[in-house]
Amino acid sequence: MCGITGYIGGREALPILIPSLKKLEYRGYDSAGVALSLGGGVWVRKTKGRISALEEKLGAEEGAGRGARAGIGHTRWATHGEPSDLNSHPHTDVSDRIAVVHNGIIENYLALKEWLRSRGVLFRSETDTEVIAHLVNYYGREAETNPGTGLGRPDLLGAVRRTLTRLEGSYALAIISADYPDCIIAARKDSPLIIGVGRGENLVASDVPAILAHTREVLFMEDGELAVLRADQVELFNAQGERVERRPSHVDWDAEAAEKGGFAHFMLKEIHDQPRALSDTLRPRLQWRKSGDDGEAAEIPADINFDEIALDASWARAERIIITACGTAWHAAMVGKYAFEELARLPVEADVASEFRYRNPILDRDDLVIVISQSGETADTLAAMRLAKKKGCRILALTNVVGSTLSREADLVLYTWAGPEIAVASTKAFTTQLMCLYLLALKLGRMRLCLDEAAYLRCLRVLSRIPAQAAELLSRQDVIQRFASRQFNKTKVFFMGRQYDYAVSLENALKLKEISYTHSEAFAAGELKHGPIALVDRSTLIVTAATRASLFDKIISNIKEVSSRGASTLVITWEGETAFAQAADEVFFIPKPAVSGEEEAEAAERPARLTECFSPILSVIPAQLFAYYCSLQRGNDPDKPRNLAKSVTVE
Ligand code: AGP
Repeated sequence: MCGITGYIGGREALPILIPSLKKLEYRGYDSAGVALSLGGGVWVRKTKGRISALEEKLGAEEGAGRGARAGIGHTRWATHGEPSDLNSHPHTDVSDRIAVVHNGIIENYLALKEWLRSRGVLFRSETDTEVIAHLVNYYGREAETNPGTGLGRPDLLGAVRRTLTRLEGSYALAIISADYPDCIIAARKDSPLIIGVGRGENLVASDVPAILAHTREVLFMEDGELAVLRADQVELFNAQGERVERRPSHVDWDAEAAEKGGFAHFMLKEIHDQPRALSDTLRPRLQWRKSGDDGEAAEIPADINFDEIALDASWARAERIIITACGTAWHAAMVGKYAFEELARLPVEADVASEFRYRNPILDRDDLVIVISQSGETADTLAAMRLAKKKGCRILALTNVVGSTLSREADLVLYTWAGPEIAVASTKAFTTQLMCLYLLALKLGRMRLCLDEAAYLRCLRVLSRIPAQAAELLSRQDVIQRFASRQFNKTKVFFMGRQYDYAVSLENALKLKEISYTHSEAFAAGELKHGPIALVDRSTLIVTAATRASLFDKIISNIKEVSSRGASTLVITWEGETAFAQAADEVFFIPKPAVSGEEEAEAAERPARLTECFSPILSVIPAQLFAYYCSLQRGNDPDKPRNLAKSVTVE
């Protein structure tokens, strides 16, 4: 995610903003910049690259920024527009009298861009953020204070309020204006933003680490709130524009704990970031409509909007899909295989990139080749992509890093928008990869007429509920923590399932293996009698994923086979599937992938087969938590497992 900081007070602003930005580096970024209220205008310096590159740029100017007592800063994690000087924040309006820094995704920025262009606005960057600066300027010009007196100036607060009503998506904003050098305006919706309350000075930031050097008195802004910061005052307003009185909280976190947002490790923070990451990945790609005529009617998804990849009919003509990746990304490919076959009736080959690149694969120019990589820099995955490209295939990349090598060399790029993933063990990248694969499978299924309108819309509604279901599931993490405290010493842990439950079991086994160093492996439950059962004894734990309703009886038999040989067993299955409680030692229930109305209507029934394949997005979360807590119990650092790197850029 991007990082925001801002300062207003009696001290020089720039020497406060730069160190404050450095405290946000852990969030991951590709460019940085500052804007100061200086000399009656707005003074902006920004650059692609590290904060050190920004410091170099500032150092080359004698007295850069000197005298400024208010300013904002930004570290950018690119989502829309490559990392570049122009795409770096802050962004300004046409008159360079307003500067904005932003963390989040403006989902309707293309429409706003067209609206502004039709009113003569020229854009400099490819970002979604720039529309905000132009809108504030546009509405500021519309509403002057003291109109007609010649003493007027744009009504900045009113212009910001009017701008916010036009934005769809998530934002944390800090705004300065040459017409109002004595204040910073801050606003948030879905993206976090805090205010550091000082003595004769105030700060705004994305996260606590950025302000700890100056104050521990923190106002945590709530969704929809807007704030006006002055040197000696902070005014807080709710979404209705009413003043809000709230006492600051005293934060006694140390700097390291603050970077993890109060979580003990980045991995746990990222596991809990999945509802936000899934929502950020899904929502901008759905078109919505009202479910009824009255104003209160709920919004329901009406279609998938893949504008960013222009998935034209030629992609729908593909008769085969090849997906290649490594590690967790390959496990996402394996889950995707079942989704494409179920929803788009397309045969899929999901191949480990290090195998694919050396086996001289038989490829057809019409094959749809999907390459998955969180980092976009994995050596084997890049080599596999280049091989497929050399054989004339078109490449659709699924990656989390804008500007990564994979994103620059592929023909089409779909981003997961999970935000930076810092822990070596991949969690939110995996679930957002699945979300993108489900959307692709649904879109192709609809284009190939494998799904009728009703089935397609139902699947979209089920997907739209998943971020909230993930949040509900995470609220029960203590159940998994207790189970891990009983099982962490097991020397053999197997993960099994059938179909996509087998595919997600591959990921579940890797999570435990890579951070707890327990020997763990996954197998298709139907393979039990073909060998694995020889390993089962009292020292064994078997974790089963069970969300394919038509195979529940078979899975229960598998569980009984291993229980009778002394294994401990945990099943991850849907709420209400109580038959498993008799068969296994422990059951962890996850929400069913179904639409709420249907859930009430068919409480005893199970969701139609079509949406069952969405279950791995939810069933993987208990396994992520299990691996995390086992790692802790075994005295490991879950964020930095031995022998592993976050991105394997060499063979
Ligand atoms: C997953 O937890 C591991 N860190 C590793 O398997 C990783 O998924 C693999 O190296 C691929 O990385 P990529 O997605 O960045 O290409």
